[in-house]
Amino acid sequence: MGHIRKLDILPPKIEKVETVQILRQLTKSANVLGELKGIAKTIPNQAMLINAVVLQEAKDSSEIENIITTQDALYKALTTQGKQPEQVKEVINYRKAIFTGFSIIEKQGFLRLSDIEVIQKTIVENNAGIRNMPGTVLKNDKTGEVVYTPPQEKDEILDLITNFLEHFNLKQTELHPLINLAILHYQFESIHPFYDGNGRTGRILNILYLIINKLLDIPILYLSSYINHNKNDYYRLLNATNKNDKWEEYILYILKAVEETSLKTIEKINNIKNLLDKTIEIVKDKASKIYRKELIELLFEQPYSKIEYVVEKLNVERKAASRYLKILENAGILKSQKVGRETIYINENLIEILKKY
Ligand SMILES: Nc1ncnc2c1ncn2[C@@H]1O[C@H](COP(=O)(O)OP(=O)(O)O)[C@@H](O)[C@H]1O
Ligand SMILES: [Mg+2]
Repeated sequence: MGHIRKLDILPPKIEKVETVQILRQLTKSANVLGELKGIAKTIPNQAMLINAVVLQEAKDSSEIENIITTQDALYKALTTQGKQPEQVKEVINYRKAIFTGFSIIEKQGFLRLSDIEVIQKTIVENNAGIRNMPGTVLKNDKTGEVVYTPPQEKDEILDLITNFLEHFNLKQTELHPLINLAILHYQFESIHPFYDGNGRTGRILNILYLIINKLLDIPILYLSSYINHNKNDYYRLLNATNKNDKWEEYILYILKAVEETSLKTIEKINNIKNLLDKTIEIVKDKASKIYRKELIELLFEQPYSKIEYVVEKLNVERKAASRYLKILENAGILKSQKVGRETIYINENLIEILKKY
């Protein structure tokens, strides 16, 4: 029974994680990620980009754990009042957890155990914290077979987390940070320190690690869309690494995920930039009287907009704000929709771009 093997502490033997194939893929992944970092800087308003991508990731990462929502439900939850279904709430929590993690990293540049606990707690909304009762096992979803038994004793979990954090916070290592990213994600998931939320917390740690190591400045690269499209391999490889201490295929998987999601994100940024330019042009052409840079930016920061947002952003009266939104709708830029008593205005072209994998 392979799952009996005890989890090793970090680091693994270098020859297991720095094979020729890994190094070859690493070059490609590191290059496109560098390109993404550069292109992200050229977006005029960074909040615009971050908001959109973070919500998408909250949705995708939750979807890996079978928490399924739609982008429309999420934006409506953010824009309007009213009670939300459990799944929507969880994804909104996840979004909050990403921002929480990001602000911790911005402030202190490293993570403590208590920070990880805050992130996990924000997602699951309970105070259970680190596991202190035995019994947690990982099962195959379909067959119910136990595929992996994580450490059971709290002391062992804490020792492993301490070792994990030492490596997570190291600024200089022999290994390239992208190889480390893969190793750290595997290790965190295998420690499985919580009763629940390990997958989602672990995927937030990934983006924070990229930022700590200056591979990105802002939280815009997420592997979850790739994982969702290659989910069986994700589980299979985490598992195979556990059983056999064979790292190569798993690390290649993560490196490919970095390459592919970087490329998709670059494409997304370019599409957003083009739409922004086009939108400015249309407004200047068809509604030059209301043209203001901040107004257009708002439609991209908040793809689901409403009168209050315009009032706040432009410091205008409700009446004027309402008129602006109607003019923008007539110009074909927004589409209005009634939700309860509120009217929201949707930047549908932007939503199309954000939705695309
Ligand atoms: N065999 C395995 N070894 C290590 N980690 C695994 C294995 N199988 C799945 N995982 C990880 O466990 C996560 C699910 O754990 P869970 O605590 O339920 O997280 P969440 O609540 O976010 O769903 C998966 O997303 C994956 O990262
Ligand atoms: Mg779960």
